[in-house]
Amino acid sequence: MKKRVLITGITGMAGSHLADLLLAEAPDYEIFGTKRWRSSLTNVAHLEGKVKFIDCNLTDSTACLKLIETTRPDYVFHLAAQSFVPHSWQNPNATLSDNIMMQLHLFEAIRSVGIDPVIQIALSSEEYGKVLPHEAPVNENNPLRPLSPYAVSKVAQDMLAYQYNQSYGFKTIRTRAFNHEGPRRGEVFVTSNFAKQIAEIEAGLKPPQLKVGNLNARRDWSDVRDVARAYWLSVQHCVPGEEYVIASGQTRSIQELLDFLLSQTKSKIEVVVDPTRLRPSDVELLQGDPSKFIKATGWKPRYTFEQTMGDLLEYWREQIRSGSTAISVS
Ligand code: GDD
Repeated sequence: MKKRVLITGITGMAGSHLADLLLAEAPDYEIFGTKRWRSSLTNVAHLEGKVKFIDCNLTDSTACLKLIETTRPDYVFHLAAQSFVPHSWQNPNATLSDNIMMQLHLFEAIRSVGIDPVIQIALSSEEYGKVLPHEAPVNENNPLRPLSPYAVSKVAQDMLAYQYNQSYGFKTIRTRAFNHEGPRRGEVFVTSNFAKQIAEIEAGLKPPQLKVGNLNARRDWSDVRDVARAYWLSVQHCVPGEEYVIASGQTRSIQELLDFLLSQTKSKIEVVVDPTRLRPSDVELLQGDPSKFIKATGWKPRYTFEQTMGDLLEYWREQIRSGSTAISVS
């Protein structure tokens, strides 16, 4: 019988790239992906007919049970989440309850149906939160000091995955991915937001002013296509119950990102700090040590920072050329 894969949150950037990868590398697998009725299908239009889309809001336990009864997956990639950090301050209740309950419903449905899939849980470097300078790069053993409701929700998801492994022998693979970017990145995130603003300015759709928030924070960026590959390797090689850092090992400031993107345009652009983009408590330093993950899987990133950000800028230029995006409001 064909192996069956379930990707929750397939309409997101990582989910859509993971589906692309699986179609190329595991063509015999049957792929199911969940979406909500109001999800944008921009990232997955090309997957129509190749992947089975299922309307399912995982916050609904009954719908979740039906999903697992119907799909009976051998592998689950649990990517569905509210993933924008600032939104979690505006609505902490929804971020905490949705992110935790979606996973709980998934786990309980799996228990109830009595299947034993390998389950990759998309966790986050945000769990590390306040990283002290001498601790970087952080590995799996660094203390978790979450600085946002989003980060707390990810710590809870992490612990839930651990607990279900210990209590019921669930094959949970806890992947703590650091920031990952590339084509199809949601426009609220910093890389995509800056790239989109530049593409809009080049097209004459906005005045030549680029709005920014905190430029001092540092992030460890990978390419989403490398991270999708990492997720696929994780379910094949990682030890259930254990946690893994997925990162490039390099750290750059948001200023360095901005400088790189500005070096890719001929437009003269003024940079303006927009105070509404500053966060109540920002994670200032993220740099991961992926040694454990590399040892377990042999993962080797294929994209450089410059390729990733260049592709992202091209993605926005193309979206604007083809008229398939709304112009930013601010
Ligand atoms: N979004 C945004 N917009 N961020 C800005 C801006 C801006 O205009 N200007 C500066 N920043 C800074 C933020 O303050 C933050 O320090 C950094 O850019 C990165 O912000 P995001 O791209 O929004 O990502 P994030 O690091 O908060 O979270 C992302 O990565 C996590 C993994 O570490 C998200 O993808 C999370 O879902 C993910 O878990």
